[in-house]
Amino acid sequence: MVTFLDGRLLVSHGDITGFRGASPSAIVNAANSSLLGGGGVDGAIHRGGGEQIRRECREIRRARYPDGMPTGEAVITGSGRLPADYVIHTVGPVWHGGSRGEPELLRSAYRNSMLLAAQHGVREMAFPAISTGVYGYPPALAAREVHAVIADRLAAGRLPERVHLLFFSAADRDTFLDTVPTS
Ligand code: APR
Repeated sequence: MVTFLDGRLLVSHGDITGFRGASPSAIVNAANSSLLGGGGVDGAIHRGGGEQIRRECREIRRARYPDGMPTGEAVITGSGRLPADYVIHTVGPVWHGGSRGEPELLRSAYRNSMLLAAQHGVREMAFPAISTGVYGYPPALAAREVHAVIADRLAAGRLPERVHLLFFSAADRDTFLDTVPTS
């Protein structure tokens, strides 16, 4: 575990579905606009959390996003069978080379997830490496956006108290650590 920002940003690797954290806690899902599940971490969270998460997502789709949730937005559901209290679903940008607003959309996904967590009194939350899998965002380029937007949020508010970046592999974790300032 490597920490930054006075111990409020913690970087490690593992399976985010097992994350617990100080309650109320949340894990973030790298969802797609349908909110109805998919592969990668989205599939792992829906498989682990069970039908309750899908039911809540379907209702959010019906009531708020009948045409799908836009990139950068975030919504919150219960966590079903998972140890965290909440799941925050956000849609990261698909990488198209960096000239279609991908950096700002990636920051929005993280920023809106943290704001939503704070609104629900979340003390500790964990992010996967949003957009760096199926959506093809180069991890080293994502790392600097992620570090900057988390630093801004932690400077602006008491909640969340701690933000974890939970990479799926040690190699992905090391790419992040090799890229960001060691403050
Ligand atoms: N725990 C932590 N991280 C994970 C896990 C897990 N259980 N499973 C995968 N990851 C990592 C991947 O290795 C990658 O680094 O999450 C990161 C994000 O990868 P994706 O899950 O592919 O998410 P993303 O790139 O944002 O693409 C989203 O993929 O699964 C579909 O429905 C999803 O359409 C959406 C798209």
